[in-house]
Amino acid sequence: MISTNKLIKKRILIIGSNGMLGQRLTEYYQKKKNIELMCCSVEESSFIAEVNYLQLNISNKSEVKNVFQNFYPDVVINTAAFTNVDLCEAEREAAWNVNVTGVDNLAFYTKSIEAHLIHISTDYVFDGTNGPYTEKDKPNPISYYGRTKLASENAVKYRKCDASIIRTNVLYGPAKFGRNDFVKWVVESLRNNKPIKIVTDQINNPTYIDDLVDAINKIIEFKKLGLYNIGGKEFLTRYDFTLRIADYFSLDKNLISSILTASLNQPAPRPLKSGLVTLKAETELGYKPQPVETTFQLMKKELGL
Ligand SMILES: NC(=O)c1ccc[n+]([C@@H]2O[C@H](COP(=O)([O-])OP(=O)(O)OC[C@H]3O[C@@H](n4cnc5c(N)ncnc54)[C@H](OP(=O)(O)O)[C@@H]3O)[C@@H](O)[C@H]2O)c1
Repeated sequence: MISTNKLIKKRILIIGSNGMLGQRLTEYYQKKKNIELMCCSVEESSFIAEVNYLQLNISNKSEVKNVFQNFYPDVVINTAAFTNVDLCEAEREAAWNVNVTGVDNLAFYTKSIEAHLIHISTDYVFDGTNGPYTEKDKPNPISYYGRTKLASENAVKYRKCDASIIRTNVLYGPAKFGRNDFVKWVVESLRNNKPIKIVTDQINNPTYIDDLVDAINKIIEFKKLGLYNIGGKEFLTRYDFTLRIADYFSLDKNLISSILTASLNQPAPRPLKSGLVTLKAETELGYKPQPVETTFQLMKKELGL
């Protein structure tokens, strides 16, 4: 006899599905037969073809209510955010509306239908004086973006819905639409013989997007609640990461010069000694980030880089 449980599909709602992470999540769940998928982002239509899609501005509470009432998700994955770190300094109200009010709206309706919210946060909640950071370290954001993301985590906790908060850092991977990630930008610049200046004083463990997708899927599967760090296998300065990209793609390293973050005069301060320790995810989820060169190989294959 077939168990009726197996016939009921899990309903997953992806918010920010046109973004870098949202696209890869959409492509991943689109292929799964046991999932009923709904995608939402702020644009009129979906960048990924042949998915159920609704235009949604998460800052608008009644729009969020409509989506939740009509689709009635079991799981909500929020990847939507105001992610331009420098612009957040100038456009504070707009950043707050998306990163805090929007997330509060999602948490409110997640609680009302007893769904599971997975919310993506960042290492920018830390000041970068003493990284890499574990889930137990005390946040101390130094940019407005970082403050809004910490406030988003607090909004999720305040609503007391079933929630998992994932902090990640420096995403890169084979997203096909929208702005270039760091790896694609380096490859394109060097291929076009464009000199690039890269900071030597920012340390992270860059995260391959599909590793993050895998971690999110495990969190859903095991219904793990609470805070998880998800990052890459290696801690590298941005300069060393760039040299690894140049080496793998056989590009001219003479075009790469080193600078310090302070000399860039960016509106938002950056956490310098950062990165995220992933031991908790490795132990509890079986999270296993892929080696850096393997992720370049996968990008090469998928994007023809
Ligand atoms: N990228 C990184 O290196 C990084 C590092 C650490 C943490 N994170 C976090 O990871 C998550 C995903 O990042 P990502 O790089 O994939 O971001 P992204 O590419 O900027 O995608 C975010 C998506 O959300 C959409 N969005 C913006 N405002 C919205 C609103 N009011 N309602 C609905 N959708 C809205 C954006 O649309 P528009 O593009 O049209 O605005 C975009 O499609 C974010 O929470 C980010 O804070 C990212």
